[in-house]
Amino acid sequence: MITFSLNGETVSVDAPPTTTLLDWLREDRRLTGTKEGCNEGDCGACTVMVSDPLNSDEQGPKALNACILFLPQLHGKAVVTVEGVSKPDGDLHPVQQAMIDHNGSQCGFCTPGFIMSMVVSHLHGRRDHDVALSGNLCRCTGYAPIVRAARAAEDVDWPPDWLPDRLDDPLNETPLDIAPESVEALAAWYLENPDATLIAGATDVGLWVTKNLRQLDKVAFLNRCWDLQVIDVTKPGLLKVGAGVTMQAFLEFAKQIHPSYGALVRRYGSEQVRAAATIGGNIANASPIGDNPPPLIAIGATLHLRKGDQQRDMPLEDFFLDYGKQDCQPGEFVEAISMPREVPSLRVYKLSKRFDQDISAVCGAFNLEFEDDRVASARIAFGGMAGIPKRASSVENALAGKPWSDDTIQAVLPLFGDDFTPMTDMRASSTYRLESARNMLVRYFHDLSGRQIDVLEVRA
Ligand SMILES: Cc1cc2nc3c(=O)[nH]c(=O)nc-3n(C[C@H](O)[C@H](O)[C@H](O)COP(=O)(O)OP(=O)(O)OC[C@H]3O[C@@H](n4cnc5c(N)ncnc54)[C@H](O)[C@@H]3O)c2cc1C
Ligand code: FES
Ligand code: FES
Repeated sequence: MITFSLNGETVSVDAPPTTTLLDWLREDRRLTGTKEGCNEGDCGACTVMVSDPLNSDEQGPKALNACILFLPQLHGKAVVTVEGVSKPDGDLHPVQQAMIDHNGSQCGFCTPGFIMSMVVSHLHGRRDHDVALSGNLCRCTGYAPIVRAARAAEDVDWPPDWLPDRLDDPLNETPLDIAPESVEALAAWYLENPDATLIAGATDVGLWVTKNLRQLDKVAFLNRCWDLQVIDVTKPGLLKVGAGVTMQAFLEFAKQIHPSYGALVRRYGSEQVRAAATIGGNIANASPIGDNPPPLIAIGATLHLRKGDQQRDMPLEDFFLDYGKQDCQPGEFVEAISMPREVPSLRVYKLSKRFDQDISAVCGAFNLEFEDDRVASARIAFGGMAGIPKRASSVENALAGKPWSDDTIQAVLPLFGDDFTPMTDMRASSTYRLESARNMLVRYFHDLSGRQIDVLEVRA
């Protein structure tokens, strides 16, 4: 039985494991304030607040998309929907009142989702409303009145004293068979059930169910494997990130030690997506346009796989064999990824049509080392340029030993054509991708010489 708290009331649900919270709220509970817009994590109309004290990232209540959140992921947690945010006396939450006062709603379809993102942001005392609302789309009001409302509510009734009661965890929940509570338990379970689908943040798997209408017969949820959610900083010079660490938790580390990588992770999906998606899921799904593999390959990260009690390590790049084919055996899963902490020359560039909430057309990661103004070593990796995340080996080899100069850059640019034959699809044409990859190396050259280019800056 799946047990969680809903707007302060403990509920127990017996439902198929791939029932989404959104469907259950709307169809079983008739709580129709939570809206279905895209049903794929893109629009935020279904945003709810989830308190997850068991998660080691300790970031407090999060905004999550109910449309790609399966009920077992909520076991032992507390959920607050738009029906549960007003004060006990019935007065509106300050962000609700501010949305009225500042005309933040027209047709109102997106409004409950915005309210929930704003409630979470308000609870954390945040001021970065553009970031906090990056996962919510509004088609008719426009964002200025909504951001004005969020600003107006900043210090009103803060901290709200009525919400914590609704964020209490349900007591006495018993473990779920399909949600192992340690890496050991997961490894043993998966060895016996190698045909099962592992579900971490469900930001991919959720769409298999809601969009591809796939039936997943056997599943295991990873979100209660606490030891999979640890970032280990104890080894000098190394960071070992558990596969279950969310992109939001990783962002807090990445922006401190690898600022350029951190800037990339900041653009990963939206608040709601980062709060759910895990680094292990982003690697294991082996998408050619996943954001983490290029920087991780460029810094020489090591992947740690686990099968039963056997562990296997490999350079991350060796994991990706071909499109849809990974060096991963039945019953084996991603346990962690290790990466060096000091990589001063790492730069990562993501090119996508929107700043937020968009998958890369091209993602390039550059990590060169220098000796006496010459290139001592080069690691350059791209997403979006081949069927797998891939290094630019010809360019790397041509750079090695050469003076770090504009002439060298110009001389190696044609070699991108030897390394990559990118495809044309809805995100970008082959020509555009190849030209962009070349331009990223030029940008890297300028970047390292102190002429940084701010992607938010528009110049004539
Ligand atoms: C709206 C939206 C925006 C997005 N934006 C981006 C973006 O900007 N950049 C980007 O790179 N991606 C983006 N994605 C894609 C998605 O977030 C990622 O691929 C995500 O990292 C998957 O992680 P997850 O934990 O949600 O994986 P899940 O969906 O739970 O699983 C994905 C796959 O990995 C497997 N898996 C999960 N964990 C493990 C493990 N530890 N070991 C072995 N197998 C495992 C699952 O079985 C499944 O095959 C976006 C998705 C959505 C819906
Ligand atoms: S309905 Fe669009 S994000 Fe959930
Ligand atoms: S108010 Fe209509 S979509 Fe936002």
